[in-house]
Amino acid sequence: MQARLKRTANIDDLRAMAKRRLPRMVFDYIDGAAGDEATARRNRGAFERLLLRQDILVNLSVRELGTTLFGDAVSLPIIVGPTGMNGAYWSQGDLCLARAAKAENIPFVMSTAATTGLDALRGAAGPLRWFQLYMLRDRGLAEALLARVYEAGFRVLQLTVDTAVPGRRNRDIRNGFTLPFRWSAGKLADAVSHPRWAMQMLRAGSPTLALFAEAVGPVPKGATISDVMQQQINDAFVWEDLDWLRQCWKGKLMLKGVASAEHARRAHAAGADGVVVSNHGGRQLDGTASTIECLPAIVAEAAGRYPVLVDSGFRSGTEIAKAIALGADAVQLGRATLYGLAAGGEAGARHALRILADEFDRALALTGATSISELRGRVENVAR
Ligand code: FNR
Repeated sequence: MQARLKRTANIDDLRAMAKRRLPRMVFDYIDGAAGDEATARRNRGAFERLLLRQDILVNLSVRELGTTLFGDAVSLPIIVGPTGMNGAYWSQGDLCLARAAKAENIPFVMSTAATTGLDALRGAAGPLRWFQLYMLRDRGLAEALLARVYEAGFRVLQLTVDTAVPGRRNRDIRNGFTLPFRWSAGKLADAVSHPRWAMQMLRAGSPTLALFAEAVGPVPKGATISDVMQQQINDAFVWEDLDWLRQCWKGKLMLKGVASAEHARRAHAAGADGVVVSNHGGRQLDGTASTIECLPAIVAEAAGRYPVLVDSGFRSGTEIAKAIALGADAVQLGRATLYGLAAGGEAGARHALRILADEFDRALALTGATSISELRGRVENVAR
C-alpha cells in the first residue's frame, strides 16, 4: 500500500484509489452532495476564475508556512475539518485523522457524528483538538456533552449552523446507505467485490455513531444517517439561543456554515470568536454560491477582528493558496483528507496532508511570497 500511496501525485489520485477500495455506497457517501450536486461543482469550478499573480527573481530561500490560530502556533494554514462516520472508511478512522493532523501540527476537529468515543479520541489527538457540535434537541444533554468535551481538553468549538434539516443526498437514497450497515444481496455483492475493505470491517465490526450514543443513548439499528440527524438535531435553534451556548461553553466558539457578511456580523455580535465560511461541501442546500465567492465580503466584514476559516471544494495546495491570498486565516478540509484516509488509513491521510502542504509551499513561493502575510492579495478574480 505504501508503494501505491507513493505513486499518488495529487488528491484526485487518492480519490481514485479510495474509489477502488470502497464499496460504492460508502464511496458515494463521501463523494456525493445534495440534490443535483450543483453547489459541489460550483465550489470546484470557482477556483478557476481566481488567478494567482506570480513574481520572479525573489529570494525564496527561507519560507515560513506557519501561522497562529486562537493563539496557538500551527505549522500550516490547514485544519482537518469535522466529518462523521470516519470508521466506515477505514477502521478507527477518527483516530487515523487525528494522528495525521497531530503529525503536521495542525488542528483536528472531532465531529458529533464521530464513530469513536471522546476518551479514545482525546488519547490520539494532539493538543490542537477542536470539537464540532450539532445542536441537540435536548439542551441538558448538549450541556453535559460540552462539559465532557471541555474536560477532555478541547478548547475550540464549531457549531454547525447549516444542517437544521439534513440535505437530500440522492446517492445515499439510491444506495440505501445506513449505519450500522444494513445488508441486501446487492450491497453484499458490492462489499464482497471490495475484499480489503470488507475484511477490515468484518474484523472491526460495523462502525456506530459512538459519540452520539455516548451523548444521547443508543442509535436505533438500521436508521439512516438522515433519520438520526432528524431525530437528534435541534431544528428550532435560532440566533437568540446563541446566548445560551455562549454561557455554557468557556472556550472559543465558531459558527460553521456562514456564507454571507451579514451572518458573520451577527455571529460576531452574538459572541462568536470566529466563523467558518462553509456550504458543507455542497451537501446541504444545493444551488448556492461557492464559498470562495462568498469569502471576500466576509473577510472585509471581519477586518482582522476575528478569524475567518473557509472550506468546501479544496483539493489542492494551490486552491488553499488562493483562499489565503483572499484573506482567509486557514482552510478546513473535508473530502481531501477522507480520500487519503479511505485509500490508506493514517498513512493515506498523512500523505494527503503532505501533498497539500507541498503544493501550498510551491504555490506560495512561485507567487514570490515567503510567508502567509506576503501571500495576501496576490490573486485576482477574472470574469464571473
Ligand atoms: C462532512 N461534513 C461535516 N460537517 C460537520 O460539521 N459535521 C459532520 O459530521 C460532517 N460530516 C461530514 C461527512 C462527510 C463524508 C463529508 C464529506 C463532509 C462537512 C465538512 O466538515 C466540510 O464542511 C465539507 O466536507 C467541506 O467540503 P469538502 O472539503 O469536502 O469539499
